[in-house]
Amino acid sequence: MEELKKYITEKGLTYYIETYGCQMNAHESEKIAGVLDSLGYCASPEKGTADLIVFNTCCIRQHAEARLYGNLGALKEHKQNVPGSLIAVSGCVPQQPDAAQKLMRRFPFVDIAFGTNGIHKLESMLYDALICKKRVIAADNDDSIVENVPVSRSQSPSAFVNIIYGCNNFCTYCIVPYVRGRERSRQPDDIIREIDELCQNGVTEITLLGQNVNSFGSGLSCNVSFSELLKRIDTQTGVKRLRFMTSHPKDISDDLIDCYGRLKCLCEHIHLPVQSGSSRILQLMNRRYTREHYLNLIGRLKERVPDIAITTDIIVGFPGETEEDFEQTLSLVEQVKYDAAYTFAYSKRTGTKAADMDGHLDKKIVSERLARLNALVKQTMRDKNAEYIGKTVEVLVESAGKRGREEMSGRTRTAKMVSFESGSALIGQYVMVKIDKIMAHTLHGVCVDRENKS
Ligand code: 5AD
Ligand code: SF4
Repeated sequence: MEELKKYITEKGLTYYIETYGCQMNAHESEKIAGVLDSLGYCASPEKGTADLIVFNTCCIRQHAEARLYGNLGALKEHKQNVPGSLIAVSGCVPQQPDAAQKLMRRFPFVDIAFGTNGIHKLESMLYDALICKKRVIAADNDDSIVENVPVSRSQSPSAFVNIIYGCNNFCTYCIVPYVRGRERSRQPDDIIREIDELCQNGVTEITLLGQNVNSFGSGLSCNVSFSELLKRIDTQTGVKRLRFMTSHPKDISDDLIDCYGRLKCLCEHIHLPVQSGSSRILQLMNRRYTREHYLNLIGRLKERVPDIAITTDIIVGFPGETEEDFEQTLSLVEQVKYDAAYTFAYSKRTGTKAADMDGHLDKKIVSERLARLNALVKQTMRDKNAEYIGKTVEVLVESAGKRGREEMSGRTRTAKMVSFESGSALIGQYVMVKIDKIMAHTLHGVCVDRENKS
C-alpha cells in the first residue's frame, strides 16, 4: 500500500469525520481516524475543505437516520467545491441488511460505504476509490474480531476500550442485534495490554464499552467473567478510574455488585437502562426482568455504595403502553431518584418484533408522556445534584471551561460534570473541588486542593 500512502502524502490530503450516535460509534470514529492517520491523511479542522468526509452513522432511532440523509444530501455540493474529494458513509446505517447498496443507489456521489465490521478494510477501499476511481462497499456480516487496528484518540486523560461486540438480547424494539451481530468478547490479555499501553501514555480513566458488558466472557475458552475482568484490570494495570457501559439488568451478578467499594479503581456510577417501569411492558420488550428485580438491584447497589450515581435509558410509548404502564415508569423514576436519564420516544424500526405488534400509539400521546417524564427527570437530577452542595469532590480535569482560562471543567467519580475556577489546573490532573452551586446539568465549585495523583 506504499503507492496509496505516497498518493495521499504527496497531495497533502485531509479528512473530516462526523460522528452520530453512541460512545461505541465515537470510539469507532477514533479507529477510522487511526487508519487514516496511518495512511498519511491529516485531520482537517473544518468540513468545508476536507478531501475525505466520513459520516459515521447511527440507526437506533428513525430520527437519527433521517437526520443523516438530510445532512448527506447537502454533501453533493461539497464534491463540486473540493474537486477529487471523497464521501464515505460508515457505521450502523450501511451495516443494516441491504442498506449499503440502497444508500449508494440513492446517493450517487457517495464513494465508499462500510459497516461497523469494515474499519480494517478501509485501506483497501481507499485504494480502490482514490487510485482505481471505483465506488466500494464493505458491509458483510463478518463477525471476527480484528485486533491492532490503529486508534487516534483525542489528547485526553480518558479513553474508551471495547471489550465485547454485538448483542444477543433481541429486545423487541431494538435494531442493534440485526446490525452489530452476535456477541463476541475480546481476549482478556488483549484488553489488559491495551489498557496498560494507554496508562503508560498518560491515560488514567478507562471506560469499557460493549452493548452488554455483563455478558463478557461467554464463548471465550479462558472462562473469565466480567467481574473477573474488572478485578484483573484493578490489580494488573495502573488505571485510576474504571467505568463501563452498557449493563443489562438481567445479567448483573452478585459478584459484580461486590466489586463496588472493593475495587479501588471502580467508579461509583452505574448506567443501568430500565426502559420501562411496568413489568408488563418489560415483558413485551423481551427485557427478561421485572420492575421488582430492577428495584432490588438498585437497592443492593445503594446498600453497597450509598453515594452511587445511577443513570438510565427509558423508552416512552412502546406499543400497547397504557397510561397505567406509563405511571409505573414515573413512579419508578421517583423511587430510584436517577442522577440522569436518557429518555426516548419509541421509534419503530423495520425488522424488529415490536414493529409488527399491535397498539402503536399516537404521536401526540407519546410526546405528551415524554414531556411529563422529562419534567420529573429534571427534578430528580436537580435533587441529586443539590446533595453535592458543600461537599468536596475529586475531579479529573478534562478541558477548559466555557469562561476561558479562569474556568476548568471535569468529572467526579460519579460522572458529574463540574466547572470550577482555577487558572492553573492542568488537563489530566486530579483536583479537589468544593461545590458551591448547581446549574441545570452540572455542578460548580472552587478548587481547594491540587494533587498530581496520576
Ligand atoms: N426506539 C426508541 N429508543 C430506542 N432505544 C433503542 N432502540 C430504540 C427504539 N426503537 C434506546 C434504548 C437504549 C438506547 C441506547 O436507545 O433506551 O437503551
Ligand atoms: Fe438493543 Fe437490548 Fe441489545 Fe441493548 S441489550 S443493544 S437495547 S437488543
